[in-house]
Amino acid sequence: AEQDATGQHKQRLLVVANRLPVSAVRRAEDSWSLDISAGGLVSALLGVKEFETRWIGWAGVNVPDETGQRALAKALAEKRCIPVFLDEEIVHQYYNGYCNNVLWPLFHYLGLPQEDRLATTRSFQSQFDAYKRANQMFADVVSQHYEEGDVVWCHDYHLMFLPKCLKDYNHKMKVGWFLHTPFPSSEIYRTLPSRSELLRSVLAADVVGFHTYDYARHFVSACTRILGFEGTPEGVEDQGKLTRVAAFPIGIDSDRFTRALELPQVQNHVRDLRERFAGRKVMLGVDRLDMIKGIPQKILAFEKFLEENPSWRDKVVLLQIAVPTRTDVPEYQKLTSQVHEIVGRINGRFGTLTAVPIHHLDRSLDFHALCALYAVTDVALITSLRDGMNLVSYEFVACQEQKKGVLILSEFAGAAQSLGAGALLVNPWNITEVANSIGYALNMSPDEREKRHRHNFAHVTTHTAQIWAETFVSELNDTVVEAQLRTRQ
Ligand code: G6P
Repeated sequence: AEQDATGQHKQRLLVVANRLPVSAVRRAEDSWSLDISAGGLVSALLGVKEFETRWIGWAGVNVPDETGQRALAKALAEKRCIPVFLDEEIVHQYYNGYCNNVLWPLFHYLGLPQEDRLATTRSFQSQFDAYKRANQMFADVVSQHYEEGDVVWCHDYHLMFLPKCLKDYNHKMKVGWFLHTPFPSSEIYRTLPSRSELLRSVLAADVVGFHTYDYARHFVSACTRILGFEGTPEGVEDQGKLTRVAAFPIGIDSDRFTRALELPQVQNHVRDLRERFAGRKVMLGVDRLDMIKGIPQKILAFEKFLEENPSWRDKVVLLQIAVPTRTDVPEYQKLTSQVHEIVGRINGRFGTLTAVPIHHLDRSLDFHALCALYAVTDVALITSLRDGMNLVSYEFVACQEQKKGVLILSEFAGAAQSLGAGALLVNPWNITEVANSIGYALNMSPDEREKRHRHNFAHVTTHTAQIWAETFVSELNDTVVEAQLRTRQ
């Protein structure tokens, strides 16, 4: 075990999330190659120095045989990761079904799936059963590795049933739960058939965290209205047991981006991109290809802008990076074809022999290429219909110290609460408003751009991912101590 500066063993933090921060590729029967993804959570937790972190989650691959499972567990152990093995059927029912087809759309105000609601109540129920079974499998792995004094931090909508499973196993375990998506208004949430069971389970945690104050408030209202529990300024109380509920807005590791911009390979990328798009303003969208991101609406707004501003047609380009995601879920497949159709139509309509107005890519970019792209962008267009936070907006701001480009941001992204004063906020459903904002952004004076950028840059570089993680984890540690003190008195 790791030691701290005084030679003491460090306290351990078990981070439980549906997906481990690695991608695993099988090389042979007993050999795996692993790629650690340096996403938001990973860099946030690298900053939590006083704890020794272990990750527990699904490796994203089906490993039916024991030899493969053993080999993968061994390879993962070197990266401080512990796998939860889920078979194909459970992935289908729990991950594709209940998580991505029920909870995800509901939490983003897209409602429950119609077909399931009308015709296949049994399949809805079997998906929920699989969800609970999967959560119990995560709990079993946590319990096998739990040591007294560990702090357990559960993440996201995949694991709402986990806090209860963990407390059933050991009520002294310190358990936190954080939601990375919005928590919707209780009027939306209460349509969920399993609404009470999930709320009660989450309330078994000691600390429950959300990105914004609004999400926390919606959650407390759901608990008071659906369960009849009491909402207090501290959280939710039932029969003397308090669950702390609060907002902990996440951030990014902004230094990682500002440092990358100094690298020669990134500067080469920047030069290439400048040359490639010389004489044109660059607009950028970077999203997972998900219905919550409002990609069709964004592209239609861009079309409207081109329609109404003929003089801009050969002077602006929209680069849309659409990272494929959850490709087994039919809704996502439909969205892909819909977006391709719209992009094709608009490029056909406004393209010339030598240039098209929209470059749409169905893939992710490596980190350095992404930083370069952020740096050369004049206007970032982030028009999520709903979004827990949206860290792309933070990453863009972190890379704009030179250019001081404009951020057009949906008012329905959590980030609108923190970057609202610097960004142009829009209602993504209002295509005319977004089209007008594009015009305003492209014509904005350098003075105004500077002022807006200063505000956002100051926020992004001070409200970092590390501070987010530290704040949550220390609150989790302290709250439990307080609760124990109270019961002892
Ligand atoms: C959102 C969720 C995460 C999830 C990510 C990627 O950000 O809040 O929990 O990991 O999307 O989605 P995926 O389904 O590929 O894990």
